[in-house]
Amino acid sequence: MAPNMRKLLIAANWKMYKTPAESTAFLTSFFPLIKKNEAAEVVLCPAMTSLPALVDAARGKSVAIGAQNMHWLNEGAYTGETSPTMLTAIGATHVLIGHSERRQYFNETDTTVNLKLKSALAHSLVPIVCVGEHLNEREQNLTADVLNLQVSVALEGIDPDALGTLVIAYEPVWAIGTGRTATPQIAEDAHKIIRARLAAIAGSHVADATRILYGGSVKPDNATNLCCLDDIDGALVGGASLDPDSFAQIIINATHRA
Ligand code: 13P
Repeated sequence: MAPNMRKLLIAANWKMYKTPAESTAFLTSFFPLIKKNEAAEVVLCPAMTSLPALVDAARGKSVAIGAQNMHWLNEGAYTGETSPTMLTAIGATHVLIGHSERRQYFNETDTTVNLKLKSALAHSLVPIVCVGEHLNEREQNLTADVLNLQVSVALEGIDPDALGTLVIAYEPVWAIGTGRTATPQIAEDAHKIIRARLAAIAGSHVADATRILYGGSVKPDNATNLCCLDDIDGALVGGASLDPDSFAQIIINATHRA
């Protein structure tokens, strides 16, 4: 498949920022700024408490709303957790899985990523599975090993035919929130490793169709260079997605390749 057959996807991860009122105020400012955008799919992932208000405010608009996390079960005695059925019931369509902050601070593992991925697919939530190496792993030349393991375990036991909506986000941990962006070449090389692994596990049709996003200090001024490369199909943006002007500019700059 030619690279441009994969539609760019630009997603915002708002992490633990913004109340519901702040989230809808963002949308009011943001929509007019991206009204000409057709080249990229846009997804906003707010905090759980802002999900219902954002789903309502985005209805009929070309912005999808996703969660930052979920449990893999439908219900149960799991204090503080949110289930996939709860997310779909309020109209969320996407979910981040295995973000490095979930792995680092909340003990998520490749095994729980696998359970969540299976569950998201079963509930028709578009999964955005996050992978990426730590700085010490990169320095020890272990990036390929880390990515291969993360992708392999995430996809274990999943029928390739069920992976139609899978999105992977490559987020090198050393680039998250640090202002230290991976160079386009570093990102492209990592994306090629991930795509090759997908092909080995699930076949080249899945590898060719899967969008692989880059995340880690994406800003308006580096979005064009990152998103113009063949294997980079969009971005997962943290800090720079909190401001409507900056996030809209990222979308405009990233879609320059299209
Ligand atoms: P920053 O864009 O703030 O580096 O965050 C990246 C990220 O973690 C997105 O999920």
